[in-house]
Amino acid sequence: MTQADCIDLPPLIGAAGSVSLPGSKSISNRVLLLSALADGATALPGLLDSDDTRVMLAALRQLGVRIDGDPADPAATVVVHGCGARLPRRDGELFLGNAGTAVRPLTAALALLGGDYTLRGVARMHERPIGDLVDALRAIGCVVDYLGNPGYPPLRIGEGRPRVQQALRVRGDVSSQFLTALLLALPLLAGERDIDVEVEGTLISRPYVALTLQLLQRFGVRVRQQDWQRFVIPAGSSLRSPGSLRVEGDASSASYFLAAGALGGLHGRGGAVRVQGVDADSVQGDVEFARVLQRLGARIEWGPGWIEACGLQPGSRRLRGGEIDCLAIPDAAMTLAVTALFADSPTLLTGIASWRVKETDRIHAMLTELRKLGARAEAGDDWLRVWPMDDAAWRGASIATYDDHRMAMCFSLASFGPVDLRIEDPDCVRKTFPGYFRAFAQVTRPVPVLAIDGPTASGKGTLAARVAATLGFRVLDSGSLYRAAALQALRRGVALDDEAALAALARELPVAWLDGRVLLDGDDVTPELRSERVGSAASAIAALPRLREALLDLQRAQRRAPGLVADGRDMGTVVFPDAGLKVFLTASAQTRAERRYKQLICQGISTTLQNVLRDLTARDLRDSSRSVAALAAAPDALPLDNAELDVDSTVARVVQWWRERT
Ligand code: DC
Repeated sequence: MTQADCIDLPPLIGAAGSVSLPGSKSISNRVLLLSALADGATALPGLLDSDDTRVMLAALRQLGVRIDGDPADPAATVVVHGCGARLPRRDGELFLGNAGTAVRPLTAALALLGGDYTLRGVARMHERPIGDLVDALRAIGCVVDYLGNPGYPPLRIGEGRPRVQQALRVRGDVSSQFLTALLLALPLLAGERDIDVEVEGTLISRPYVALTLQLLQRFGVRVRQQDWQRFVIPAGSSLRSPGSLRVEGDASSASYFLAAGALGGLHGRGGAVRVQGVDADSVQGDVEFARVLQRLGARIEWGPGWIEACGLQPGSRRLRGGEIDCLAIPDAAMTLAVTALFADSPTLLTGIASWRVKETDRIHAMLTELRKLGARAEAGDDWLRVWPMDDAAWRGASIATYDDHRMAMCFSLASFGPVDLRIEDPDCVRKTFPGYFRAFAQVTRPVPVLAIDGPTASGKGTLAARVAATLGFRVLDSGSLYRAAALQALRRGVALDDEAALAALARELPVAWLDGRVLLDGDDVTPELRSERVGSAASAIAALPRLREALLDLQRAQRRAPGLVADGRDMGTVVFPDAGLKVFLTASAQTRAERRYKQLICQGISTTLQNVLRDLTARDLRDSSRSVAALAAAPDALPLDNAELDVDSTVARVVQWWRERT
């Protein structure tokens, strides 16, 4: 179910399928800038269509760079007509959203070229540091001023006289994007002398710098590198278009699907999940995630243009825990923080200090949201430890996403836990992967539900129990829940029309099911629930919308692997609208009254057939005429009239339908 401001994800049991990855964000924004600054036109097939690339495209167009095509239209490859280091517009006010991959390199390029520019972003961008880059640029004579807080955007760039006489120095331990920004832009200054860039502090996120160097090479600039400490742009370098450059699929986006393929193995239902667009030869550091996952016990296959995860390695029942150095894979590391919930021992992620200055403070956000699920987690400046969870520890939760696409995507994997999950503001994924939740739904398999609805005494309970036993599924007798709520109300003296009090009582209902018995506050109340007094109280309170709403979570929480057969009145219409099979069971009132009469007589309850028929007709009327969740077949339900069928034949028919469907 999708709403404007959240998406509800059902618990998952498996995953299988294939995903065509969107283009890499890191490659897309680097090659857009390089193409714009180079000599000649560059075609960029596979360019990512997302917020961050749109921000870069718009900025370049605003600077007068001619760009044909639209990444939203795969038929119209984007072609950038490079301006050969001379931007047509020497001034402009650029809005760069929250795209770090746009703000940092554009700052460097515009500062080196000079002009009159302002660079702004969203509020969070104004909290993300850029001082180390600005210091490096000022040191060589560029004019860059802070318009707000020193060290942070917004910035004003003026006309300077940049000259490189000695080595440029830049810090590498806060964000590798400062070094990347300089390396992408400095070829604009290359003349008769080599340009030296020295890194201060330990360089983090090195694969992203390696990516920068590889792409520069495609544009004709061969940076010489000494360890990760010194980079030299050779004299005489200039950016030249490679003509065409295909953008690889995004390796960070691949991590969610590979993790889903591995976690699908938890229930022995792991199919293969293939991501298309990256492989072992990828230039992106985050492909390392697949190797990490393999070390943790996932089965990973590699092929040309694809990577596949197919459950767990033979002999593994869960992923392994342990310490993982994430310095080289800061983005994919977020995915590991969530898969750690399904490990066999605690997982310690180290080298993640850069999380603090990303789209949000990701260490804080991760810790807060993991705890909402009931997980145990702790963190320090640059590390996070996550403990695995038992089924019983999980709590359904509404996950906040902090306007951070990766929070939304990595927490979707928590739906492999035995709870319903809500992801808030799911649209934040458009930063790098606009169709993420559609793709995720396509390759994941929710815990299956078979819904059986129908009027009272139609035989739903017997049918549900028998079908569940045949399929090895759990059963939810939702009627017993309404009856338990009614009994609790009667016991506590709550009026049957006091909607607020009944809803409060239902939210805290201490009900449990054990071997076919219903326990209320630990007492076996099974026989009491079947009494007419409780039945008619249940029917009365079942008409109250807030009471029904309060019982929803309890019902949905019964959806656990390997599957659920749910019987009631609104299983297929309201509680499990995505059920794999919906059956609407009917029989005439006379037939149902005769069955119920026999049942009551067998239980030693004296009544007459006439009384039973009258009660039952009244109950039918109330259940089908109430304003919420009135008894009605879902449009996609299969009707089944069992008046002429015995129980065995009814069960056989439903099991056959189920097998045909699944
Ligand atoms: O199926 P039952 O007779 O045990 O149900 C008891 C009452 O609860 C019934 O009158 C209707 C109500 N009910 C409901 O409204 N929705 C459900 N899903 C199940 C039962």
